[in-house]
Amino acid sequence: MNILEVRDLCKSFGGLRAVDNVSFSVKQNHIKAIIGPNGAGKTTLFNLISGSLKTDSGSILYKKETIQNSPPYKIARKGLSRTFQNIKLFGNMTVLENVMVGRHIRSRAGFLNAIMPLPRARHEEKVTKEKAEAIISMLGIGNLSHLEASGLPFGKQRIVEFARSLAMEPEILLLDEPAAGLNIQETEDIAKTISKIRDQGITILIIEHDMSLIMDISDTVMVLSYGVKIAEGDPKTIQRDKEVIKVYLGDDDA
Ligand SMILES: Nc1ncnc2c1ncn2[C@@H]1O[C@H](COP(=O)(O)OP(=O)(O)OP(=O)(O)O)[C@@H](O)[C@H]1O
Ligand SMILES: [Mg+2]
Repeated sequence: MNILEVRDLCKSFGGLRAVDNVSFSVKQNHIKAIIGPNGAGKTTLFNLISGSLKTDSGSILYKKETIQNSPPYKIARKGLSRTFQNIKLFGNMTVLENVMVGRHIRSRAGFLNAIMPLPRARHEEKVTKEKAEAIISMLGIGNLSHLEASGLPFGKQRIVEFARSLAMEPEILLLDEPAAGLNIQETEDIAKTISKIRDQGITILIIEHDMSLIMDISDTVMVLSYGVKIAEGDPKTIQRDKEVIKVYLGDDDA
């Protein structure tokens, strides 16, 4: 089954076609990678899918339901969660608190709880804490739970970000360059973490420049260049695709 279907999607900024008639689908529980040179429109595509940007035309279907131009919080509640190209953690909060913030989107009492300590709210807070702790330990960072997020190495902050997204109980997770700025060891940890998340039954759409990571974990790869989808297929086929190689080398004679 396709959990996500994007059809003829377009988005321009002034005269610039950032996403130009892009169509693709994502199978449930697969890992699909989106690659392409800087400025290819990858993050814009994520912004359209997650609702933080309005589409010009085309459609986005999540589990057969049209979601384009719905507000981001509604899309998130349906089960689509994302991480950002730049880490967006609350630096002065602990790892556990950061993950609990993600869970609040699911808990009715999340905000109310801050004002009125109702018994129901108190109960929900307890559930939120337990679920957050379970996710943190599943991702192998249980020992960091009570540390401030800003003091952690970059690679660990990435995993905390994943944990926070998982706290929203997504069915599909959109990851924007999770290995950016990480060293080789941290990148391997991230690859393992992503596979672990998929093993939980979650579908993954990942933007990444690190080719070895992409080749290791993805089922299919889609390539964007100047907003246009130029290739799609299994990682090995994409690696040998002449058009793709040309785009990456930036040389017509290559
Ligand atoms: N809000 C915006 N307003 C104007 N132009 C934008 C906006 N967001 C993106 N762009 C432009 O749209 C194009 C696609 O940008 P986008 O960030 O989607 O690329 P990307 O593939 O994610 O690149 P990178 O690999 O560098 O992250 C770029 O030319 C960018 O400058
Ligand atoms: Mg980007």
